[in-house]
Amino acid sequence: MNILDIIEKKEKKLELTKSELEFVINGYLNESIPDYQMSALLMAILLNGMTEKETVSLTEIMLNSGDKITFDFNVVDKHSTGGVGDKTTLVLIPLVASLGTKVAKMGGRGLGHTGGTIDKLESIAGFNTEITIEELKQEVEEIGASIAGQTGNLCPADKKIYALRDVTGTVASIPLIASSIMSKKLASGASNIVIDLKVGEGALMNNIDDARELANIMIKIGKAFGKNVICVLTNMNQPLGYAIGNALEVREAIDTLNGKGPKDLEELVINLASLMISLDQNVPMEILIESVENALKNGLGFEKFKEIVSYQGGDISNIPVATNIIEIKAEKSGYVKNISALKIGELARRLGAGRLSKTDEIDYTVGIVLTKKVGDEVNAGETIAKVYTNKVLIPEKDVSECFEITDFKVDKPKLIYEIIK
Ligand code: URA
Repeated sequence: MNILDIIEKKEKKLELTKSELEFVINGYLNESIPDYQMSALLMAILLNGMTEKETVSLTEIMLNSGDKITFDFNVVDKHSTGGVGDKTTLVLIPLVASLGTKVAKMGGRGLGHTGGTIDKLESIAGFNTEITIEELKQEVEEIGASIAGQTGNLCPADKKIYALRDVTGTVASIPLIASSIMSKKLASGASNIVIDLKVGEGALMNNIDDARELANIMIKIGKAFGKNVICVLTNMNQPLGYAIGNALEVREAIDTLNGKGPKDLEELVINLASLMISLDQNVPMEILIESVENALKNGLGFEKFKEIVSYQGGDISNIPVATNIIEIKAEKSGYVKNISALKIGELARRLGAGRLSKTDEIDYTVGIVLTKKVGDEVNAGETIAKVYTNKVLIPEKDVSECFEITDFKVDKPKLIYEIIK
């Protein structure tokens, strides 16, 4: 077997066997296959796709490349394919755990213009996300939930390949995304997995057809490994909620856990939580909605959030945000037609909320808080957003250009497009 033949086979759109894929992945991990040949194969996969059989095999090989977590009880996991202002996990995990469903969540750091749960949590003074697998398991056993960074040596093959995809323009391949996400989810030991699959300008999947294809292949991979996977296709054309930026998002998550959150975030969290609990407790999601809403209103979820934060060493009273606040005013009256999630995410990154390169230090305190959302009426001169900044100044025009204001009434956009099982 040799790598050149395998690249050429994929160039001819032929199906690779499991042993060929094993040869490639193991060879790339042990460095007998160099970056340039792996890149060529990844590009051939991006252009010519993979069959379901190849995608399942690739997932299995990456899953078996490192440690796997096992639990003695059922655990539910949630994954988001990434968005702007997406603080869902911070609300969802304690909420679900507060109702008796155990959750082990391994989060990631910000990527590109999208934020990451781990960066957000680290804006809470003292919060430790770098815990071992044993510590994570113990926390889930004792208090029902844990939120940690990539702990242990899970899926090292995916880690190495993902880093290469990131710099070779080969991220946007549905089979590569599906195997990358699912190998990590399977290694994390959950029996039920709910995926918040973001669709729109600010997301990995820009249109509903691609999102459906990704959802279906992830569900099939789950089935192949005996796991329940449900994908919820959600709107990521405008940022979720109002706050974008780490500490600002944690504060908004806390407001939401006290029943004072933005409507779109609340709607998403209530639906995802009901789904997760329904999978775990084997009851229809519809009958859970009310108890989830109550847990959000009566502070049950917030109590669990405080428990998680204090278990992991954090101090909830210490979440500083930047004190230099610039108000952005609407240039004309009308209705907000669009708020570009992509542009807002990029601006937040420029302020220091995200990284431009892997080694950049982020500033947890900066970001943007919208004061209007799509569908809202606005008067000329009214504040549409607030920029929280320390050192970096961005032209006010760059922020106002993220907003499209029209003379005509605009309906509130649909948040949850569909649920695929
Ligand atoms: N997230 C992942 O974990 N992998 C991908 O390929 C894309 C998004």
